[in-house]
Amino acid sequence: MEYKIADLTKEEAVYIGEKINEIVPREVDADEEEFVLKVENENGEIIGGCIAEAFEFHWSRILLETLWVDERYRHKGIGSMILREVERIAKEKGCRVVTLGTASFMARPFYEKHGYTVFTTLKKANGYISYSLVKYLDRDAPEYVPTDNSGARFRISYGNDDDAKVIENGIDTYSEDYEPEYESVGFYKKLADKDGKLIAGVVADVHKGDYGFVDALFTEAAFRRRGLGTALLREVEKFAKENGTSMILTYAGDWNVGFFAKNGYLLRGELKDVPKGRVCYELFKEL
Ligand SMILES: CC(C)(COP(=O)(O)OP(=O)(O)OC[C@H]1O[C@@H](n2cnc3c(N)ncnc32)[C@H](O)[C@@H]1OP(=O)(O)O)[C@@H](O)C(=O)NCCC(=O)NCCS
Repeated sequence: MEYKIADLTKEEAVYIGEKINEIVPREVDADEEEFVLKVENENGEIIGGCIAEAFEFHWSRILLETLWVDERYRHKGIGSMILREVERIAKEKGCRVVTLGTASFMARPFYEKHGYTVFTTLKKANGYISYSLVKYLDRDAPEYVPTDNSGARFRISYGNDDDAKVIENGIDTYSEDYEPEYESVGFYKKLADKDGKLIAGVVADVHKGDYGFVDALFTEAAFRRRGLGTALLREVEKFAKENGTSMILTYAGDWNVGFFAKNGYLLRGELKDVPKGRVCYELFKEL
C-alpha cells in the first residue's frame, strides 16, 4: 500500500500523545501536575521561583523545568530554599525522583551540593555542555545548608501563571547573555493512507542552528515493522539538516530503545529506575 506524507492535525498530534502514553510503562495513576513556587521580598516583589512538573508519563518523578533567583539576591540560600521545597513537595506527592537540566554556564555545582548527580552530558555546537541531573529522594543525602543562608527569611509560596511568566522571563534574560534564542520550527507530519487516515505520525521540534528533538513517534499497531517509523524519522532528520541543525535528540525507554539504535541513535545518558524497575535513555544522532 502506498502512503503519502501530510501535515498532522492538532487532534492527530493529541491522539499520538495519548497512544504513546498507553505504551509507556506507568508507575502511578496520577495525571501530570504543574506547579509554581515563588519567593517574594518585603515589597511583594518576586525575587526567585521555579516551575516544576510532577507525574509526566505517569512516573513518580518531578521535573524541575526552571529555577531562577534574581541576580541581586543570589548566594543567600534562596535557590536552596526553593529546591528543598520542591523535594518536600515531591515526597509529599509520593515521588521518588527529581530530575532537571542545566548547562555549563549555569548551576551544576549548586545542584551537586544538594546531592544531585549527572546522568547525561552533551557538548553543544556553541561549546556549552548540557547536563541532566537526578536525585533519588529515597536515598539518604545530607541536607545542604548554604554558607550564607540569610535569604531563608523570605516567604516561599505557590505561584500562579502570571508568577510563572516572571520566573520564565528571569531565566530567559539570564540565558540571553550566553546563548542566542534559537528559532524553533515544528515538524508535525503523518503518513496517511489513500483516504488521508493516519497510519504513522511524528511530532518534532527543530531549533535552527542548535538541535532537533523528536517528541513523539507512533505507528499504528497493525502497520508496525514495515519501515514506516524509520521513514518518518528520516523525514525529521532531512528537515533538521535543511534547517541548519546537525544533531537530533530524543528520549527512549528500555521498551523501544532498540528501534532508535537500529536507526543510528547513540546513548548520551541513562536514567536508571525511572519508571520503577525500568530505564529511560537519552539519545542523540549526529546528522
Ligand atoms: C542557580 C541559582 C538558582 C542558585 O540560587 P542561589 O539562591 O544563588 O543559591 P544558594 O544561595 O542557595 O546557593 C547554595 C550554594 O551553591 C552555590 N551556587 C549557587 N549558584 C551557583 C552556580 N551557578 N554555580 C556554582 N555554585 C553556585 C552558592 O555559592 C552556595 O555555595 P556555598 O554554600 O558553598 O557558599 C541562581 O544562582 C540563579 O538563578 N542563577 C541563574 C539562573 C540559573 O542558572 N538557574 C538554574 C538553571 S538550571
